[in-house]
Amino acid sequence: MTCSLIDRFGRHVTYLRVSVTDRCDLRCVYCMCEHMTFVPHKELLSLEELDRLATMFIERGVNKLRLTGGEPLVRKGIMSLIQSLSRHLKSGRLNELTLTTNGTLLSRYAEDLAQAGIKRINISLDTLDADRYRALTRRGSFSNVMDGLKAAKDAGLKIKLNAVALKDSTPEEVDDMIAFAHGQGMDLTFIETMPLGEIEADRADQYLPLTDLVQTIEKRWSLTPLPDRTGGPARYMRVAETGGRIGLITPLTSCFCEGCNRVRLSCTGELYTCLGQEGWVDLKSVLRNSESDGPVMAAIDRAIGEKPEGHDFVIDRDGQPALARHMSALGG
Ligand code: GTP
Ligand code: 5AD
Ligand code: SF4
Repeated sequence: MTCSLIDRFGRHVTYLRVSVTDRCDLRCVYCMCEHMTFVPHKELLSLEELDRLATMFIERGVNKLRLTGGEPLVRKGIMSLIQSLSRHLKSGRLNELTLTTNGTLLSRYAEDLAQAGIKRINISLDTLDADRYRALTRRGSFSNVMDGLKAAKDAGLKIKLNAVALKDSTPEEVDDMIAFAHGQGMDLTFIETMPLGEIEADRADQYLPLTDLVQTIEKRWSLTPLPDRTGGPARYMRVAETGGRIGLITPLTSCFCEGCNRVRLSCTGELYTCLGQEGWVDLKSVLRNSESDGPVMAAIDRAIGEKPEGHDFVIDRDGQPALARHMSALGG
């Protein structure tokens, strides 16, 4: 029996986010620039290596695994990785295997995901206005994502919508978004924008504290805090009128690092122990230089031992991101 992953603040790491690619078919304005440089294919971990590393984390007590990107469904062979990882659901070692997707490829993959044992997915959708969707994502088609949503529902997947809170659009749309999401039995989570990676705009222009958004929501809806946790960073509220839940992810206005249970593996095998700090440990070279798991496990322990207490994100007016890497490098 190998020991579980506990950091120096006593936090148990039970949630691994695996970014299977940094590429994406969209270019959301708060996430990326128009012209991005992506990791060359030859630097990527193979699907077998991703599987081997994820499995080591599961052996060390990780019970929730989320595949992210970029956009995870653009990674070639993604279904074979998911099908392989699903053996850990069957063995009972994983409670949840899931993914966060922009939804553009769900019409193609939803049924296969459900067949592989995925029960629930998070879909990024910041607006219900087709023109605004196009402008925000620079190249997405709203109707395509709606088709993807429908395919996911038809396949029996439980869906949570993720919306980054944006000053110019979210307050205006929030009532419609709640009615839309809850009308279809979906949770809706709002996220404060985080200062990661250079983008063309100044993030401060669009930053909307969720404390402000909650005040807007409360003009029309009655909110009650819930004790519910999904293992992620969101706090949840019940909306009395719909019976549905909204989630709030508030790295800027209300830090949740104290209860952090997560680490992130990048598509090049770097293990990041905090979304909002620089530190990482190179697992790829250790993995490629050892047939046994021991040295990799030791590197994982080293990383967990250095997990920082928390991020120190601030959104200020100088327009500089706190960290140079984009959100898409780590999948959030
Ligand atoms: P659930 O399992 O549904 O709770 O999902 P989740 O919130 O864990 O995952 P998701 O991929 O939907 O993430 C939603 C947002 O939360 C993304 O913008 C992530 O970047 C952000 N997020 C997730 N974990 C962390 C974290 O540890 N720190 C910060 N600052 N943001 C996080
Ligand atoms: N701040 C907050 N959320 C972001 N996302 C992408 N970039 C940022 C950012 N800078 C969101 C996406 C997706 C999730 C994985 O992270 O919209 O919902
Ligand atoms: Fe792609 Fe997600 Fe970034 Fe949008 S937020 S560009 S969907 S990785």
